[in-house]
Amino acid sequence: MNKKEEEFLSLLKKNRELQTIVQNEIEKNREKDEVLFAQNKMAALGEMLNNISHQWRQPLMEISSLFIPIEGKLNLDIEVKKEEIKESIENLNIITKYMSSTIDDFRNFFATTKEAEEFKVLEQINTAYRLTSASLKANDILLEIRVSKNPKIIGYKNEYTQVLINLLNNAKDALVDRKTLNPKITISVKEENDEVILKIEDNAGGINVTPIEDIFKPFFTHGKKNGTGVGLFMSKLIIENNMNGKLLVNNTNLGAEFKIITSNNTVK
Ligand SMILES: Nc1ncnc2c1ncn2[C@@H]1O[C@H](COP(=O)(O)OP(=O)(O)OP(=O)(O)O)[C@@H](O)[C@H]1O
Ligand SMILES: [Mg+2]
Repeated sequence: MNKKEEEFLSLLKKNRELQTIVQNEIEKNREKDEVLFAQNKMAALGEMLNNISHQWRQPLMEISSLFIPIEGKLNLDIEVKKEEIKESIENLNIITKYMSSTIDDFRNFFATTKEAEEFKVLEQINTAYRLTSASLKANDILLEIRVSKNPKIIGYKNEYTQVLINLLNNAKDALVDRKTLNPKITISVKEENDEVILKIEDNAGGINVTPIEDIFKPFFTHGKKNGTGVGLFMSKLIIENNMNGKLLVNNTNLGAEFKIITSNNTVK
């Protein structure tokens, strides 16, 4: 083997080694993203558990008082009408149905969908709303949903809901932190050609970070006591890598505005 050949072979070897290193780093990065994904989902679940316990308190109280009048009458040997018992049973059924629907939301959200599927945007908005409504209400935050159409998206619906929950939680955090008067979040949906554009706006005064895109960096958190800085990084990954869409942000004169743009017919 001459010198040229030797050099060439050693270069080839180095090249291969480099490729393995790059491959390993990519793999490591992917694993890191998966851990972050699980972490962000756990945080969203924690928030949801909070909401479920809020949402159950009221119906539990109702259940516990539902049969008090009947019990009282029985104890006093007063005749109880059939109708009265029937009505209480019906009410009991309504309340338990409601309670079981909150549990269904929880279970559905926990299941990860492996295959992209077709889903309606409004259904996921409603799920995200049900899972955050208790903490929104507790902070007197008004949520306005403006949807004239209910477009379909092809993608991962639980992950889409996870993004909505992240964005709603961020808006709520900003509104609560800044003690905004008449706190309000608006969700609107429109369809343009083959794109579905979902907009979430708040009136908390906006994002004071420059460049504003920094908020999407992993572990970037600003002005929060318990922020992990994972929410928006994960949201961008879900929309842009998994669903081939775009997650954009800008400030309006009232507050922050996030846009989720996804395609209504294709996914990579
Ligand atoms: N609607 C908003 N109004 C004002 N600032 C916002 C808004 N949404 C996001 N931000 C800013 O962007 C930062 C990053 O948000 P991100 O959701 O990634 O992390 P976090 O909320 O700090 O932590 P967590 O991991 O718990 O979500 C926030 O700390 C906040 O400063
Ligand atoms: Mg957040």
